[in-house]
Amino acid sequence: MADRYLNFTGTTPGRFLARRLGLPQPATLRRWAPEHPTLQGDLLHLTVGGDSPHKGDLTDILTRTNLNATTTPDSPHPTAVVVDATGIGDTPDLAQLHALLHPVVRSVAENGRVVILGTPLSLTDHHQAAAQQALEGFVRSLGKELGKGRTATLVRMCSAGAAESTLRFLLSPRSAYVSGQVIEVGEAEADPSPRDWDRPLSGRTALVTGAARGIGEAVAEVLARDGAHVVVLDVPAAQAELVRVADRLGGTALPLDITADDAGEHIASALAPGGLDILIHNAGITRDRKLANMPADRWSPVLDVNLTSVLRTTDALLKSGALNRGGSIVATASIAGIAGNVGQTNYAASKAGIIGMVRALAPVALAEYGVTVNAVAPGFIETKMTAAVPLLIREAGRRMNSLAQGGLPVDVAETTAWLAGASSGVNGQVIRVCGQSLLGA
Ligand SMILES: NC(=O)c1ccc[n+]([C@@H]2O[C@H](COP(=O)([O-])OP(=O)(O)OC[C@H]3O[C@@H](n4cnc5c(N)ncnc54)[C@H](O)[C@@H]3O)[C@@H](O)[C@H]2O)c1
Repeated sequence: MADRYLNFTGTTPGRFLARRLGLPQPATLRRWAPEHPTLQGDLLHLTVGGDSPHKGDLTDILTRTNLNATTTPDSPHPTAVVVDATGIGDTPDLAQLHALLHPVVRSVAENGRVVILGTPLSLTDHHQAAAQQALEGFVRSLGKELGKGRTATLVRMCSAGAAESTLRFLLSPRSAYVSGQVIEVGEAEADPSPRDWDRPLSGRTALVTGAARGIGEAVAEVLARDGAHVVVLDVPAAQAELVRVADRLGGTALPLDITADDAGEHIASALAPGGLDILIHNAGITRDRKLANMPADRWSPVLDVNLTSVLRTTDALLKSGALNRGGSIVATASIAGIAGNVGQTNYAASKAGIIGMVRALAPVALAEYGVTVNAVAPGFIETKMTAAVPLLIREAGRRMNSLAQGGLPVDVAETTAWLAGASSGVNGQVIRVCGQSLLGA
């Protein structure tokens, strides 16, 4: 269902009226397109808190984006501002953050990016931990202030090299609907290079569950665009749509109910001898009803599809060795699993369960199988599922985020593709694709 308000406020009279009435003013987000695959313009690279050990590596990485990186704030409208705050070790240093950003923040271009780089919080130095945690409150507030499609993100990193794929994602149109997030990038080898950054998943095989339509179809499309061979899975009843998706993407259709006890074995045997590099758990269902009115036959299927089958197939594919070393798993949670939602005790339990699985499995899977495990947590995404939501609730869902609009399936897909191809330092993360929704913030 089209977002008529977004279309209206995209016109001159609509913009005028929204401003005069103090209504939300969503900007048209600049997403990836073949004619503009990268952001363009100036990138202001600032450093606070003294000398940064990352400066050299960061300069190299930022120069490799398509943006024109500079350390002098003389651009009238920088497209991106990257602040290296890894050197902040105590709260007085935070004044420099204010001093450097205060004069430039207003001038950041529409659809621009502010990326703050911090370090992991110290467990022994409470002054460092206070100052670094302060960055989180700063970024989450800035994301709410920026407007005009601009986003703010905090990346806590151990090394710039391991964060390259993450920085590239954040400094590109692919991250248009990701704001107010905190991303941890742990110790890892530098992002594998040389890499064809236009097709970073080239040579990889990816399985996407629930890919006959909606977000799963968009994920398969973006993975294929990024070079992966996609195996698309959905229920046998959706075989015709599934085959159409597979044919369009040069992939393989695998009709299968993911809740089958032997789904993992079935997938493993259907794969080419090269095995699987990327496993995307996207299939999901809702059966909403308040708990007091919810019979068991609306509870169990949701837990089975959204959580139990994810655990079962993950275990089977890891243990059988079907998932190659260097591979990745990305599961689909939801902000309902973080904030909860009326009528969704079953759904929110299943999605919160995904978050639990990701956090516990990530270190083990990386150590034992060389596989990363992360999750996306979509907010309000414009799909058939949300088109069925009653009008007023739908409008509230669309506007109650910093970007004042719903996301598109492609936004979830872009984030999924970044996680699927990121360095092993990106592990155990739950990334919300929600335009910084107020729910569960
Ligand atoms: N749309 C949103 O706003 C939103 C928000 C948060 C999270 N999500 C999550 O994103 C994922 C995709 O959502 P969507 O909106 O595209 O949903 P959708 O209903 O359009 O698509 C889900 C797909 O999963 C398939 N599927 C269901 N049960 C299956 C099974 N047992 N085996 C194999 N395939 C099965 C369906 O046939 C369908 O093609 C889900 O996990 C959903 O919970 C969506």
